[in-house]
Amino acid sequence: IRTLVLPTPADVGEAAADEIAAVVAERPDAVLGLATGDSPLGAYSTLADRVQRGELDLSRARGFALDEYVGLDPADPQSYRSVIDRTVTTPLRMRRAVVRVPDGAAADLAAAADEYERALEESGVDIQVLGIGSNGHIGFNEPGSAFGTRTRVVELSERTRLDNARFFPSLADVPTHALTQGLGTIMRARRIVLVAIGERKADAITAAVEGPISVDCPASVLQAHPHVLLIADEAAGSRLT
Ligand code: F6R
Repeated sequence: IRTLVLPTPADVGEAAADEIAAVVAERPDAVLGLATGDSPLGAYSTLADRVQRGELDLSRARGFALDEYVGLDPADPQSYRSVIDRTVTTPLRMRRAVVRVPDGAAADLAAAADEYERALEESGVDIQVLGIGSNGHIGFNEPGSAFGTRTRVVELSERTRLDNARFFPSLADVPTHALTQGLGTIMRARRIVLVAIGERKADAITAAVEGPISVDCPASVLQAHPHVLLIADEAAGSRLT
């Protein structure tokens, strides 16, 4: 894992945007793997500024979100469909129809997961943007997830539900399950950029980069991928040796 520790979160956003823009410059119809959450927001807003200024064109790019809560209506403001529309599709002027999000409201979730996996396999992902959970999860692959996993329904850990409770009226409103790309799915991406901001991520980042490759820290599987760039701010990178 190539590691870049930068002074501020704004620097992290710029550097992550550079990575993504470089891929799109080479391949205008690139497939972007899209994380939600706070970590990639700086990158997305930097890209949006470049699109606005006419320096970058994402109109031919496509996308796949990493995950989606189970049981939220796609129109719910907290669904990842809504988050992706608000933070990616609209500001980056991408076509909504080619930016896919798993269907967490499907009647048959297993079938929806299989279909999403097939679509991902068919199109491939040129660059996958990832955040990391304070417990080392990527996507919603919680500790204990097998490295070969594919898109599937998972139960969220208590830690993850607590971490994400800030977006909901109360903890009881945080969904208990999600559809997520698996670790095996994520590992098929051609390039990966992992973004980490804040002291809260320092232990997870250190385990991911310097620890053993272990299901106890799902992000540690990234050590086995040939093209991963970790971009951290000083706080998140503070415990790296
Ligand atoms: C989001 C996702 C999660 C987040 C992680 C970090 O689609 O899959 O793995 O990337 O929970 O969240 P933030 O960035 O909000 O700290």
